[in-house]
Amino acid sequence: MVRSVLFSRFTDKFFAGFKNRSCLAEFRQFTSTTFPELAEFGNISSHEDLHKFSIQRPDKFWSVLARSRLKWETDFHTPMDCDFRTGKFNWFLGGKLNISVNCVDRWAEVDPERIALVWEKDEQGEVENVSYSQLQDMVGRIANTLKQAGVGVGDVVALYMPISPVAVASMLATARIGAVHTVVFAGFSAEALAARVEDSGAKVLITADESVRGGRRTPLKRTVDTALEKCETVKTVLVMRRTGAEIKMKPNRDEWLDECMLRSSPICAPKSMNSEDPLFLLYTSGSTGKPKGVSHSSAGYLLYAMVTMKHAFDYKQGELFGCVADIGWITGHSYVVYGPLANGGTSLLFESTPVYPDPGRYWEMVERLKINHFYGAPTALRLLIGYGDEYVTKYDRSSIRKLGSVGEPLNQEAWHWFHSVVGEKRCDIVDTWWQTETGGVAISPRPSAPNAPLSPGKPQRPMFGMNPVLLDEKGEEVQGLGVSGSLCLATPWPGIARTLHGDHQRFVQTYFSAYPGYYFTGDGAFRDEKGDYQITGRMDDVINVTGHRLGTAEVEDVLTEHDNVAEAAVVGYPHEVKGEGVYAYVILKQGVNLDEENIRNELKLLVKSKISGFAIPEFILFTPGLPKTRSGKIMRRILRKIAANQMDDLGDISTLAEPEIVETIIQKHQKK
Ligand code: WT7
Repeated sequence: MVRSVLFSRFTDKFFAGFKNRSCLAEFRQFTSTTFPELAEFGNISSHEDLHKFSIQRPDKFWSVLARSRLKWETDFHTPMDCDFRTGKFNWFLGGKLNISVNCVDRWAEVDPERIALVWEKDEQGEVENVSYSQLQDMVGRIANTLKQAGVGVGDVVALYMPISPVAVASMLATARIGAVHTVVFAGFSAEALAARVEDSGAKVLITADESVRGGRRTPLKRTVDTALEKCETVKTVLVMRRTGAEIKMKPNRDEWLDECMLRSSPICAPKSMNSEDPLFLLYTSGSTGKPKGVSHSSAGYLLYAMVTMKHAFDYKQGELFGCVADIGWITGHSYVVYGPLANGGTSLLFESTPVYPDPGRYWEMVERLKINHFYGAPTALRLLIGYGDEYVTKYDRSSIRKLGSVGEPLNQEAWHWFHSVVGEKRCDIVDTWWQTETGGVAISPRPSAPNAPLSPGKPQRPMFGMNPVLLDEKGEEVQGLGVSGSLCLATPWPGIARTLHGDHQRFVQTYFSAYPGYYFTGDGAFRDEKGDYQITGRMDDVINVTGHRLGTAEVEDVLTEHDNVAEAAVVGYPHEVKGEGVYAYVILKQGVNLDEENIRNELKLLVKSKISGFAIPEFILFTPGLPKTRSGKIMRRILRKIAANQMDDLGDISTLAEPEIVETIIQKHQKK
């Protein structure tokens, strides 16, 4: 009672003057179906008002949702205690809960047969459904297996496995016993895996014999064996049987996961965890060579993932949510696993590629499984456009209600193709902008809002609780419409990352120091005449290749490991399908007379073995020098322009130590 009185006094003042009654009725209907718990705050009269309220009073907004949407063992006493200046984020203090209970048990109790996961295997047409009660059984058995292996509260478990129900259950099993998972994308090389496992200090690693993708098998266990030669922390390796391939098992370290699960009880009491206990680490690239272990919390993260999943996509229980991302990325965490399951939904696990066995794979699957929400990456759409529309139109897509996109700008051509060809102009396009660090969708058209027009190529509107601002070089907020700046977020939200594993200093430095008092996203953005946001691209040395985030410094570090390389500078350039391609400028050591083509191939192999296939440079240009300032700083701006063939727009090069080098590079670039 007291709560509602206080609240309406606030909203009265805040929203005084709202006149449009017909919109009010529509809005009331909207809130009562999508935010029933907010209905008591009757004075909020439009979706915009609700958004304003969520950023004016984040404590109120999020605590109402936290209480109604999460299952707590102990209620929280302090909704939020956050400070952008020190990088301190605490939500729902005093509260206790278990994430696996929220994602599995509470649905298994009310509706055990409800399908939680639909596993679309690589082989076309082979599907496995997993109900909430079956998932509960798997989670319990894996949780007990982990306990047997000595995993306790706060210990890290690394996952290097293909998307599958066992992988999802492994993530949830870790959460069940209060441990922390770190999923390493199963396309990363042994070295990249080793670096992440080592940094995380994982004790146990879960993998599979092989993965299957696009009809090809990849020997995951073999990669794990190589990786573990270098790191000592892992004492137990649990191996899921995916293909049944013959593999080597190391005595006293490796065990078959299915055998352990059979031996274990399905009953495992959930550990009662604090809201702020870490749920997972996820490594992502930054502007230095060393990947960052982004750490997410339990309650705040889960709430943000589930609320955004429901309201960005207007998800209704019973629908099949088809996010085709891999669990190795944040999209897989938030919109394949945690968001859908916390909402009691049904989630697709897609193991294959968009072009296997042919470029109709997505749409054939949509028809067969009757997918209601399709959430994919622009790079895949651009690839498919090239194969022609028949691959789409020959399948029935009438089940789809919303089409989502994530990871990079959805260019005009891809937007219109998605909208007209795939969606028959019937489905809303949900272009979602967010980051590993935001935990969930931050800016998106939010079609669940009534009267929300779509604007192609723009993520448009902030989600609830999100307060985007544009800042200029002086750190002042740029006001008004038709303006650009550094995209920052000015109000804390529950899904924000809490720290970088083992390096809180770097966390503060990376996100909160450029613009004190704000979270800096690293992206630039434009606010158009209507107030909609458009992302203009990264402002740091991070590039986006086929939707994968890559630090140019990571690639440079690898290239300079080669015996013949003196120096390297890597930039991104616009690529029709990949979004950005990798372009490397390399200076060879004095006196190297080897065949350039040989070195080029060696460098490509080196990048593949140290990072992953997607990081391989498209172009490697050997040059005698690089454009540097007199103080020795490489002017990447110039290298980016050359790579993009914008030679007539190089700007002022007179401050360079040796301006002539630019002409040499241009000539070599044109001859390549
Ligand atoms: C970076 C974050 C969020 C899950 C996948 C990527 C770029 C992401 C969009 C979009 C334009 C986008 C940004 C961002 N990005 N979504 N809809 N439009 N750019 O997560 O690996 O953490 O990368 O991806 O540059 O900062 P991530």
